[in-house]
Amino acid sequence: MTDTSDTVGKQQTGSVKKLFIKTYGCQMNVYDSERMAGLLKPLGYAASDTANDADLVILNTCHIREKAAEKVYSDLGRIRKFKTQKERDGGTMKIAVAGCVAQAEGSEIKTRAPFVDMVFGPQTYHRLPEMIARASREKGDILETDFAVEEKFDTLPNQRELKGYSAFVTIQEGCDKFCTFCVVPYTRGEEVSRPVEAITAEVRMLAAKGLREVTLLGQNVNAYHAQAPHGGIGGEWGLGELVRHLAKVDGLDRIRFTTSHPRDMDAGLIAALGEEPKLMPYLHLPVQTGSDKLLKAMNRGHTAAHYLQQIEKIRTVRPDIAISGDFIVGFPGEDDTDFEATMQLVRNVGYASAFSFKYSRRPGTPGASMLKQIAEPIKEARLARLQILLEEQKQSFNTAQIGKILPVLMEKKGRNPGQLVGRSPYLQAVHAELAENLLGQIVPVEIVDTLSNSLGGRRAIPGAVLA
Ligand code: 5AD
Ligand code: SF4
Repeated sequence: MTDTSDTVGKQQTGSVKKLFIKTYGCQMNVYDSERMAGLLKPLGYAASDTANDADLVILNTCHIREKAAEKVYSDLGRIRKFKTQKERDGGTMKIAVAGCVAQAEGSEIKTRAPFVDMVFGPQTYHRLPEMIARASREKGDILETDFAVEEKFDTLPNQRELKGYSAFVTIQEGCDKFCTFCVVPYTRGEEVSRPVEAITAEVRMLAAKGLREVTLLGQNVNAYHAQAPHGGIGGEWGLGELVRHLAKVDGLDRIRFTTSHPRDMDAGLIAALGEEPKLMPYLHLPVQTGSDKLLKAMNRGHTAAHYLQQIEKIRTVRPDIAISGDFIVGFPGEDDTDFEATMQLVRNVGYASAFSFKYSRRPGTPGASMLKQIAEPIKEARLARLQILLEEQKQSFNTAQIGKILPVLMEKKGRNPGQLVGRSPYLQAVHAELAENLLGQIVPVEIVDTLSNSLGGRRAIPGAVLA
C-alpha cells in the first residue's frame, strides 16, 4: 500500500466553481478522487489546489489505521475556519467527507463535525451530482453509505481525462478475506470484479489519449474473476487472462497490478508474469508477518512456508522480479519468537520495497478485542528494527541496478532543469538529463547512481541492449 495523501488538480480562475479534493490512503482512493473530479466537471466544478476559497471541499478518506482516520478530523477543523470565513464574506462552501471513514463512521461524523454537509462511502460517489443538488436545495444533511459497487461502475461516465502517461484503473473492489486486523471488508464491502468489457473499454479509451502504462487496482486484485468476453465463451477469467487480453490494446506498453493476496497467486497469473512482456516485473505481495501462529490469528489463510513457495514459483518464471510487501508488527499475541520469524522471512525473501506498520486497533474488527495487546514501546522497537532491515534490502536492490540499462517510462520534468523523471520496470523513480520531447517515451537509461528514493541515470547509447 502506498500513502498517497494528495490534492487533485490545478488552480482555476474565472466564474467556474472551485473544487478541492484531498485524497488519503491507497491508490483506490486516488482513482476514486479522479473519477469524482470527472463527474463534477460537467457541473462547472474545476479542480483547485487550495481549500480556503473552494465552493466544494471533498475529503476522500482512509480508515485503515487510526492515524489516517484522525487526520481527517484535524483537517476538518482547519477547513471549517475557511467555511466560516467564506460565509462571513457572503459566499458558501460545501464540505463532503467521502471514502472509508465516511463508510465506517457514517452519521458519527456529523456529531463530531456538524458543519459537514455530505457524508458518502466509496460505493455511492457516482450519485455525487444528485447529492450536491440535494444539499443546495434542502437544508438536511446528506448521508449515503449503501453498497452498490456494480451500480457505481455502470454509472460512471465512459470518458475520463488522462494526466501524463500512466493511470490507475480499478478492476475489483472489496474483500471477503476478513483478516482480523482489517477494516476493508467492512468499508469496501464484499469482493466484486468489474466485467472484462468495461475494463477493456476504459483502458482503450485511455490508450487512445496516450496512455502507456496502466496499474490495475483492487483491494484483492488477484482474486479478480469474471466471465470471458462475448457472453462468457472461454469460461471464467482470472487476472492472468485479463492481463494477457489488455496487453493487446494498441499503444499500451506496461501493465501493473496491486494489491495481491498470497492465497490468490494462481498458476495462470504466475504464468503470465513469466510470459507476458508487458507485465512489469514488480509484485506487491503482502505477508504481514512471518509467524504461523500470527498468520492464523490474523486469519490470513496461509503459512509462512506457503508464502515462500509462492515467491519461489514466481522467481522461477521471472527471476528479476522485484518483490514488495506489507508488514504489521505488534499484532495481539506477538512475542519475540514471532517477531524474529518475521525478520527471518524478510531475510529469506529479500524485498525491493515494503511498507511496514505498527498494529492499529480498529473498532469492530476481531483483532481489536483480542487479549494480549502489545504495548506501544514494544511495537515501536520492533518496527524500527524491521524498517532498518527493509531499508537495507531496498538499498541493495537499488545498488544492484548500477551499470544496468533499464527501459524508463519518462513521466514528468525533474526538479533540476533539463531533467526528466520516470519509472523503471521495478517501479523505481529514475531521473536523467533528457530532452523534454522524450516525455511519454520509454528511454534506455544507464543507471549510474542511487539516492535514498530514486536512481540517477544517463541516456544509454542508441542500440544498447536493455536489461
Ligand atoms: N493496523 C496496522 N496496519 C494495518 N493494515 C491494515 N490494517 C491495519 C491495522 N489495523 C496494513 C496491512 C495492509 C495495508 C494496506 O495496511 O499491512 O496490507
Ligand atoms: Fe484487508 Fe486482508 Fe482483505 Fe487485504 S485481504 S483488504 S488485509 S481483509
